[in-house]
Amino acid sequence: MTVTTISKHGEVAVIRIDNPPVNAISQAVRQGLKDAVSTVESDPEVKAAVILCAGRTFMAGADISELGKPPVPPHLNDLTDHIECCSKPLVAAIHGHALGGGLEIALSCSHRVALPGTRFGLPEVSLGFVPGAGGTQRLPRLIGVEPALNMAVEGKPVGTEAALSSGLIDQIVDDLEPDAIEFARKVIDPGQTARKLDQAIAPDSFDPNLFDQWRAMCAKRKRGLDAPMAVIDAIEAATGPDVEAGKATERALSLKLRKSPQSKALRHIFAAERASSKIDDIDQTVARQIASVGVIGAGTMGAGIAQFFATNGVSVTLVEISTEAAAAGIDRIRDNLSQSAKRGKLTQDRAAEILTLVHPTTDYADLAEVDLVIEAAVELLDVKKKIFAQLDKACKPSAILATNTSYLDVSAIANATNRPDQVAGLHFFSPAHVMKLVEIIRTDQVAPWVLATLAQTMKKMGKTGVIAGNCHGFIGNRMYQSYQKTAGILLLETGSPAIVDQALRSFGMAMGPFQVLDLSGIDVGYLMRKSLPADKVHPYAFKVHDALVEVGRKGRKTGAGFYTYGPDGATTDQMVLDLIAETACENGVTPANLTEDQIAARCMDALGQEGLEILDEGVAARPGDIDVVFVNGYGFPRHKGGPDFLQRQ
Ligand code: COA
Repeated sequence: MTVTTISKHGEVAVIRIDNPPVNAISQAVRQGLKDAVSTVESDPEVKAAVILCAGRTFMAGADISELGKPPVPPHLNDLTDHIECCSKPLVAAIHGHALGGGLEIALSCSHRVALPGTRFGLPEVSLGFVPGAGGTQRLPRLIGVEPALNMAVEGKPVGTEAALSSGLIDQIVDDLEPDAIEFARKVIDPGQTARKLDQAIAPDSFDPNLFDQWRAMCAKRKRGLDAPMAVIDAIEAATGPDVEAGKATERALSLKLRKSPQSKALRHIFAAERASSKIDDIDQTVARQIASVGVIGAGTMGAGIAQFFATNGVSVTLVEISTEAAAAGIDRIRDNLSQSAKRGKLTQDRAAEILTLVHPTTDYADLAEVDLVIEAAVELLDVKKKIFAQLDKACKPSAILATNTSYLDVSAIANATNRPDQVAGLHFFSPAHVMKLVEIIRTDQVAPWVLATLAQTMKKMGKTGVIAGNCHGFIGNRMYQSYQKTAGILLLETGSPAIVDQALRSFGMAMGPFQVLDLSGIDVGYLMRKSLPADKVHPYAFKVHDALVEVGRKGRKTGAGFYTYGPDGATTDQMVLDLIAETACENGVTPANLTEDQIAARCMDALGQEGLEILDEGVAARPGDIDVVFVNGYGFPRHKGGPDFLQRQ
């Protein structure tokens, strides 16, 4: 298939790239574009050209599937140099996303115009490498050193208005192709082909300490990541006197990091996240639209779920047992929204608009017309069964009923209704309006259209959905339970929560296991363990946990748990250390002097083993699903690819 075509509009040629779904810059695109630019260069009738893309977006970057393989010419950096050397004005006409190599191609053109709503970015850093086709050299020349650091080190795209005000684009247009052709006509006469690499960055245009400041920030906030530091090095090289030396530094860093274990892991997670909500045996076209939802329970989870749907423009009926409890739920959402507004994440008007979509009630009859209900009540099977029996009566026959349970049997809940084929789990992570992960629990009875609807709805609303089988704890909590069990044994061996927590943080986990328990409440696991048969609970791994709960130390919410919380933050007190030592002694656990690596390895082995069982049982469809769950829901370091990926290296 030809991915590049040229059409002529008087003196202006239009080079169109068509490589669905996102116009990734594959070898065919690179070759096609290079040849097209040569054609434009040699055609005496053509005085300028527009480069644009068919479909939903401008080029969204290098073809990620080619990155792990030996590079095939023409290389992207040769292509951008070729574009820059064209003696005629070239106008990049951009819509959708101009990301990575897509932005680098646009930067090597003489001009850029874009539709409103376009996003521009250098996200390579989030795939563990450095732009390799002049992005770090041209961008600071075009928009300044600090704005370039902001875009390339953070890897977060900017919008059209910001791109216009920074000088990244020359004009916002309404009708891409005709307006870009018109723009190109205007720049023919002055022969505006000036290219950015010809211009040195003025030494007085930036603070020379900037690079060290950014390095210090990355050492703290992007702990252990190689790519952000390398991007800073590449942009610093752009400020030197020698253009070719700057380009060579960027290229060398890019090639080196592409082969790095971090980049391999990050690319794995990128692909796994896109695969996780796909259901191999189900035709996605059977999915239905969700226009309104009901949420049962307005506690932290219920309010967060209601806020998430309302933020996505979906009307929410929020059901509680009393008017006071429903009002408290609305207050929770209002507080969350006003905090986001204070942090500048949304305007007060937008916050008010979201809140108007949430309708509190105590009457199940108000759920008669909703398309989907998510129950987020207390984690007690009998309570949930009663709620589902009530929902079955109150909701229209086509409604999907979902439970947000984090470990209960979804089939048992489904069987409390006369529509078990329309009942599934939708396990959000707290805070539900922030965390991207959602486990979509597939029972044996659930209908394909129900699963497809839930998967598509979550994807459309920006969540990372993972299909998981119905077992105690599904994928995430089941694995986390194994991890916590091992951490509990290590607690007895090492004698201190701080030693275990520090080892896991050094490994890269966002928080240590005991910090997590203190934050989420040690009583949650305590209640869950009480609901299990005794032979399903490790004989001593959780003894310290249970003893702490029984003396009222349930975690942060009670001012103390594994740690004591005071004005100076968290401290370990002697009572806890004594309790650990006594429990170890009573259970015959020998104290051990373990290194951080040994502690982390034991926890990772536990995760890996449980992961293998989960895969064997078909609870997770693919190894990558386990990684997606852990990276997105449990603070596992993304650059290590996830517990299954790590195990397989
Ligand atoms: N190379 C190859 N395939 C890519 C790709 C790339 N750079 N970017 C996206 N795709 C594929 C996805 O794998 C997905 O494939 P699938 O339909 O088989 O699952 C498809 O394009 C759509 O991507 P998806 O992310 O589901 O669509 P979206 O509309 O939500 O987002 C983007 C579109 C472009 C914003 C997003 O895909 C993205 O951020 N891509 C990566 C951009 C990037 O990092 N570029 C630099 C690479 S060096």
